[in-house]
Amino acid sequence: MMQNRKKNNTIEGLPQFYKNAAIHFSGKNNSVKLGKKVFIKDSKIKLYGNSSLELEEGCYLQGCQFIIRNAHVKFGRCCELMNVKVSAFDGSYLEIGGNSAITGEWELKEAATVTAKKLWCTWPPLVAAKGGKITMGDCGLADTTIYNTDYHPIYDFSGNIINHDRDVVIEDNVWVGRRTVILKGVTLGNGCILGFGSVVSRDIPPHCIAAGMPAKVVKENVVWAAHDKADYQKYFPLTLENAADFYRQTKTKDNYENRKIKSSPLWLTAFKLHLSLWQSKK
Ligand SMILES: CC(C)(COP(=O)(O)OP(=O)(O)OC[C@H]1O[C@@H](n2cnc3c(N)ncnc32)[C@H](O)[C@@H]1OP(=O)(O)O)[C@@H](O)C(=O)NCCC(=O)NCCS
Repeated sequence: MMQNRKKNNTIEGLPQFYKNAAIHFSGKNNSVKLGKKVFIKDSKIKLYGNSSLELEEGCYLQGCQFIIRNAHVKFGRCCELMNVKVSAFDGSYLEIGGNSAITGEWELKEAATVTAKKLWCTWPPLVAAKGGKITMGDCGLADTTIYNTDYHPIYDFSGNIINHDRDVVIEDNVWVGRRTVILKGVTLGNGCILGFGSVVSRDIPPHCIAAGMPAKVVKENVVWAAHDKADYQKYFPLTLENAADFYRQTKTKDNYENRKIKSSPLWLTAFKLHLSLWQSKK
């Protein structure tokens, strides 16, 4: 483990660095924990005190920028991040499960908790959270925007707030189409499908297609798959009770564990990390 004793900033593990990549430390008591074979490209990670970033073995980042002021951010084993850009503030918590393929942006504030089991994102999603929770299962998101808050309070004439922040839940096997918006308080039921351009403001039940603004159910008792394969036919007919089994049997195993990474010399990486700790700013 490398440590800047004066500021108590630490780095555990040696990533694979690309060209001019660097970790920038700001503030004290920050920790960066990197598993084996973590690849970081155009990084800029500032932590601003009492923060932690954990990237488990095999994580692959690309156009990074994390800010993480007084927050905890963790990406699980073999996550592929690509565009990255996370800012997480004020005691918030972001934890994404292994083998997720993500591009995107995240922004968390005021002790928000955003977690996902496994994400498969084809375009950049935007997740904005303030307080409360956004909980995602093993699901596929296109370029969606998820809010658990309106950010600004609305008062009735008696002075009561009428638009409190409310948790969002996206259950397993959900497919969220492009250019969609998921608003505060919504639960998307297991296996539901959200049509292009939908704005969801109320719960959507499992195994249906919902579309429009506001999103309404347009078809029921459906399942979806990443690709069309002839042998999927053997799983039919399905019932509502065993529809979730379809996903267990047919989900493509997005597995990035065998990704080949061109190593940079470890001495160079170690030197750069020492340098970043030494250069820790206020
Ligand atoms: C949601 C979707 C998958 C449904 O496809 P489908 O089962 O073939 O649905 P249909 O075209 O038969 O439409 C069923 C009804 O829903 C309506 N509808 C479908 N998609 C809609 C949408 N995005 N917004 C509003 N209404 C929609 C149709 O007008 C139709 O209404 P009607 O019965 O009153 O005529 C598809 O319409 C869609 O939005 N696909 C885009 C998904 C996406 O973003 N993919 C990117 C890759 S991740």
